[in-house]
Amino acid sequence: MTTSLRNRILVTGASGSIGGQLVKQLSISKANFCMGVHSNDSKNLLSEIKGGDFVEIDYNKPDTISRACSNVDSVFLLISGPRALEYVSTFVNEAKKADVRHIVKLSHFRADSSPGVTITRLHRQVEKVIEDSEISYTFLRPNSFMQNFVNFYSPSIRSRSAFYVPGGDAKVSFVDVRDIASVAANILINKNNNNETTHINRSYDITGPEAISYHQAAEIISNTINRKISYINSTETEAREGMRQIGMNEWFINIALELYDSYRRGYASKISPTVEFITGTKPRTFVKFAKDYASYFNQNG
Ligand SMILES: NC(=O)c1ccc[n+]([C@@H]2O[C@H](COP(=O)([O-])OP(=O)(O)OC[C@H]3O[C@@H](n4cnc5c(N)ncnc54)[C@H](OP(=O)(O)O)[C@@H]3O)[C@@H](O)[C@H]2O)c1
Repeated sequence: MTTSLRNRILVTGASGSIGGQLVKQLSISKANFCMGVHSNDSKNLLSEIKGGDFVEIDYNKPDTISRACSNVDSVFLLISGPRALEYVSTFVNEAKKADVRHIVKLSHFRADSSPGVTITRLHRQVEKVIEDSEISYTFLRPNSFMQNFVNFYSPSIRSRSAFYVPGGDAKVSFVDVRDIASVAANILINKNNNNETTHINRSYDITGPEAISYHQAAEIISNTINRKISYINSTETEAREGMRQIGMNEWFINIALELYDSYRRGYASKISPTVEFITGTKPRTFVKFAKDYASYFNQNG
């Protein structure tokens, strides 16, 4: 392996909410990185990112993992869905053979809480496979993404001026995916350039600066776009039907409903200092998020 390639970063899920922001930031920082793409659509989405090359990666195909990890020092690892455990085992096997030195794994807020919920327990099991691999790691455990309001709620915000969530009066310390990506970029770049060891084998909960309710989120979006947006505290049955209508699969719907239930019981209101601690910058507020993404909530957006 040549010295010049030892600081190379592989970003898996490069077309995803977090991966997309991470490759933008690595590009701006002129880091040595490659973008793991699963589909050709992803490649098109990322065509304007400068400085990173593409590498095909499909967790169902170990040979693609092996090629993607070749000459790579660190990996941003995003694995999701019901087959996550099987995928991570294959991934770490191939990563070890390729002599990958560090994995920054996207996990879930309070993945180590007990008893937790199905998704946090799954992420914790995946984390344990990485711990057992003896590859060094950093686990990033973000709370609910602000961008869920774009990815999941914006269609009904545009068409019906409302979003439908079984969130009760829960308070959630929503976090902007751009801040999660900044945390990942800082860890990956510092570790590569300065041989930084601070974040080795550490786990970080990642949240926004405040815990707000869905009522408050609706008010902030309303004030931002000058149009009344309502939060409808839907029943689980209504929420299930709504999620089916936007094409979510049953596994994901059950995960989401269980999470909303945990939010109503106060699970997601804790605030963590990670973003400022690692990036030196305060995390974005929901007001800032709503301003930056206002076009997604406008009826002509
Ligand atoms: N949403 C939240 O509020 C929240 C909060 C905390 C944690 N999380 C965790 O965040 C993760 C989701 O992150 P995200 O929203 O950034 O993801 P995302 O936007 O759904 O992106 C998923 C990425 O994975 C790639 N991918 C899909 N199947 C693949 C395969 N077989 N092999 C290789 N790559 C594959 C996709 O590529 P293609 O598009 O090309 O298929 C895409 O780039 C989940 O693990 C979730 O538990 C989410």
